[in-house]
Amino acid sequence: MLIRNVAIALAAFALLGLGQANAANNGSHASLKCDTCHAGQAAPAAPSQKTCLKCHGSYEALAAKTKGDKFNPHDSHMGRVECTACHSMHKKSQFICRDCHAIPSRKFKGE
Ligand code: HEC
Ligand code: HEC
Ligand code: HEC
Ligand code: HEC
Repeated sequence: MLIRNVAIALAAFALLGLGQANAANNGSHASLKCDTCHAGQAAPAAPSQKTCLKCHGSYEALAAKTKGDKFNPHDSHMGRVECTACHSMHKKSQFICRDCHAIPSRKFKGE
């Protein structure tokens, strides 16, 4: 009986779409509640830039943190790209500038 109830609960979880993602978030977001990023979404999907910037301030502030070589991911001819084009929260991030430029120096935290 207990096992059956657990199976039903797991099936419901999967139906809601919450079962697919590894329930853990990457890095510094590990302890955040799902709703912090997914509130108001019909099914969990990449949140908008606005949601990220509630905690991270502004593109300008980020650009100041990632000064260095000319390939600043937060200040370029690409403009204010959606954060989640590069940063993933449940899987590996990808630096999309590398689609066109060889940029050996830039690394995501933990890479
Ligand atoms: C509830 C607040 C909050 C929200 C919302 C949030 N972050 Fe963060 N994030 C933090 C904190 C706190 C840190 C750790 C300190 C720092 O690096 O600023 C962090 C760190 C990071 C880091 C550095 C790597 C790491 O894991 O430490 C990246 C990249 C990042 N956040 C991207 C994002 C993106 C993209 C979004 C939107 C999808 C987002 N954050 C939403 C609070 C938040
Ligand atoms: C074009 C890809 C790209 C986009 C778009 C992007 N980032 Fe980043 N971000 C990176 C890379 C690459 C790094 C690590 C490289 C570095 O530190 O120089 C980074 C680093 C960070 C860090 C860590 C900064 C530090 O060193 O303390 C935070 C926080 C962050 N990004 C948040 C965001 C948020 C929020 C957005 C959207 C407003 C965003 N990023 C958009 C590629 C991107
Ligand atoms: C810091 C913001 C943030 C938090 C907190 C967060 N997510 Fe996400 N979620 C994202 C982003 C960004 C994506 C887009 C895919 C990716 O980056 O991995 C996403 C996508 C998803 C998806 C769609 C599947 C996919 O891989 O595209 C599911 C399901 C999901 N999240 C579930 C959850 C659950 C469950 C929690 C709570 C344990 C949670 N998320 C917490 C940012 C977040
Ligand atoms: C679709 C291809 C493409 C993408 C993606 C792309 N760029 Fe570029 N970028 C170019 C082209 C084309 C030029 C102009 C030719 C050149 O100088 O390499 C350029 C020029 C530049 C320059 C000046 C060139 C130099 O060598 O001084 C910088 C800096 C730059 N890009 C940074 C970025 C950053 C940071 C990103 C990611 C946020 C990015 N680019 C994404 C195509 C791209």
